[in-house]
Amino acid sequence: MSGDAAYARFTAFLERHVGITLGATKDYLVNSRLAPVLATWGLPDLPAVVDALERRQDEALRAAVVDAMTTNETNWFRDTYPFRYLGEALFGELFARRRPIRIWSAACSSGQEAYSMAMLVHEYRTVRPADNATPVDIVATDVSGAVLRQARAGVYDALGGVRGLSPERLTRYFDRTPAGYELKPVIRNRVSFREFNLLGDPALLGQFDVVFLRNVLIYFSVETRARLLARIRRQMQPKGVLVVGASEAIPERELGLTMVKLPDGVIYRRGE
Ligand SMILES: C[S@@+](CC[C@H](N)C(=O)[O-])C[C@H]1O[C@@H](n2cnc3c(N)ncnc32)[C@H](O)[C@@H]1O
Repeated sequence: MSGDAAYARFTAFLERHVGITLGATKDYLVNSRLAPVLATWGLPDLPAVVDALERRQDEALRAAVVDAMTTNETNWFRDTYPFRYLGEALFGELFARRRPIRIWSAACSSGQEAYSMAMLVHEYRTVRPADNATPVDIVATDVSGAVLRQARAGVYDALGGVRGLSPERLTRYFDRTPAGYELKPVIRNRVSFREFNLLGDPALLGQFDVVFLRNVLIYFSVETRARLLARIRRQMQPKGVLVVGASEAIPERELGLTMVKLPDGVIYRRGE
């Protein structure tokens, strides 16, 4: 198999399994990211990886390739405004309904997004103890097993791992350990992590009042985006809120969602 043919088959595999589209010129990226996988599996080159992926039903190799090829960049309270909106506006509305609240961090990476929401829930209830009676379920999902393991462990390195956290929250919610900053159970136990591929059917996760689907749509084709957004829309409760990444746009009218402009960003809402 020529190098070009192997590259084309590899990118087709990636798009089929996780939706990620790579242009024709990303071979440097593929080669550098796959280097550790080649070394671990004793495979000499990309054609051998493609061959192994296509011929063997080797789940461990597939998972290693997905872990290597997904971009997991994230941080605490990323972009600020979605979290300000949650804590200062949306929670008031949701808790006032006096029924269980369900929040989904789709494509959660190593957990910072979901745990940031858990901190906000904790802080909201600290000053409104009556709202402790309302259950809040935070579900966080990702396709990469590697980031989910990091997320569940809840340990973040002292440099990049705590980016976006105020000194107060760092002191309040973490224990300093030799491994880094370890999240306290009061926040860690609030989030349930699950492996879920956004190409799959989210109906199995149930209905949500709030969906954070941020900084992942950019990796998908227009068709894949449209397909998965339509399915996610069906999992949103009436008046449910969808938040996408600050640089991501969605066809909100086609989806039956309304764009709501906030002072420093936008969110999308379902009607009644
Ligand atoms: C750049 S991170 C975004 C993390 C977080 N949402 C944020 O905005 O900070 C993108 C995440 O999407 C995940 N991802 C990529 N393709 C996916 C798919 N098909 N299903 C679920 N997650 C996927 C990656 O594993 C990665 O953790």
